[in-house]
Amino acid sequence: MQPLPGFRDLYPGDFARRNYLTSRWRETARRYGFVEFDGPTLEPTDLYRKKNSGGEILGQLYEFTDKGERDVSLRPEVTPTLARMIAARHRDFPKPLRWFNVGTCFRYERQQRGRLREFLQFNCDLVGDASPAADAEVVALLIDLLRSFGLTEQDFAIRLSDRSAWQSFMSGHGVPQEKAGEFLQIVDRMEKMPEEKTAALLAPFGVALATVKDFIEKAEIPALEPLLSDLEARGLRSFVRPDLGVVRGLAYYTGVVFEAFALHGGLRAIAGGGRYDRLLSDLSDGQADLPAVGFGMGDAVLLELLGECPSAKAREEAALKADAAVQLYLVIASEEHRAEALGLAQLLRESGWRVAYPLAEEKVGKQFGTAESSGATHAIVVGSEWPTLKVKRLADRHEESVPKDSILAWLANTRS
Ligand code: HAM
Repeated sequence: MQPLPGFRDLYPGDFARRNYLTSRWRETARRYGFVEFDGPTLEPTDLYRKKNSGGEILGQLYEFTDKGERDVSLRPEVTPTLARMIAARHRDFPKPLRWFNVGTCFRYERQQRGRLREFLQFNCDLVGDASPAADAEVVALLIDLLRSFGLTEQDFAIRLSDRSAWQSFMSGHGVPQEKAGEFLQIVDRMEKMPEEKTAALLAPFGVALATVKDFIEKAEIPALEPLLSDLEARGLRSFVRPDLGVVRGLAYYTGVVFEAFALHGGLRAIAGGGRYDRLLSDLSDGQADLPAVGFGMGDAVLLELLGECPSAKAREEAALKADAAVQLYLVIASEEHRAEALGLAQLLRESGWRVAYPLAEEKVGKQFGTAESSGATHAIVVGSEWPTLKVKRLADRHEESVPKDSILAWLANTRS
């Protein structure tokens, strides 16, 4: 029996990588003053259908009727849930809100590299501030987050665009408002589609492909200036590129939109987001008229990217090594000393060390083999010299004798 296509079994090694991602996500979000929240993974389908996510995502819903005859869907994204939650209780929180979430999302997509049907997504959203300073704060967080993995300007860039520039384009070229979403979807997919196909899809709108391409190449985006100077002041300007080619597939964006993408291995989106100033109001029938900006980042593309960029890979490997399941391995040199070894294991564990030892009698050579493969940095031999221990540093086999009463102090010293 295999897992379903697009779903993953996470073995301990995979989970260690996931923990590495989520710890960086959480740490960076907290550095920017964001707090964590979560909502349900199953929602009424109307949350996505009503004016909200729109577009492609609606065709990718894991949608079914539950035993109470409700039309429900596994969440394909977290933004509508966040908007619903804040709209319901916005008076309880001082503005602006800085919230983040690490959660599972589901989309019935065609499975491919970096695209799955069940994936982990990190979301950061700043709600209740309509200024470019808020946009900059979120974009800076995204940049710092990618840098925290050891990724550099050579590895990724943020493409910044503005939906309102596209709104003006559409009204200037007679695209009716109710067809705006459909039009933007075509532009969104343009880079991945053959030109003839894009031209054919644009034809019913009476807009030529050349006109769209010309707009992307030539148009200035003055609305982005305050955001760019804010990033400049932080020393982060070189990570971003104004680019009208980005429009984003989701329907709710109203202003600045952006995507982080990998510079090598094909333009792959690592993260995407933007400003959505009407979603909260729409979801609460105008009760909570709060502007918002945020982004989402999945684990799948990021994991691939970390494996491909040498500096990021080295950083990840060092972090995984430092977080090995076992730090100390107790070698029980003779069975008469098992009781002392158990007492020592207990003492070390109570002091926070991750400790393993053989559960049954084993040859000393085999125990050292297990110690090496366990990821432990030291083997501690409990044997005939008790209460003196032999401590062996496994990396270079350097050995020292340490009285058992001094072992905690000795270890603390090696750690520092
Ligand atoms: P999105 O562009 O649909 O935006 O997704 C954001 C990120 O989630 C993508 O860049 C990608 O890393 C990851 N992702 C999306 N679909 C999949 C998939 N099928 N498999 C693996 N990873 C995937 C949103 O979801 C918005 N709600 C983001 C947002 C938050 N906008 C404002 N706040």
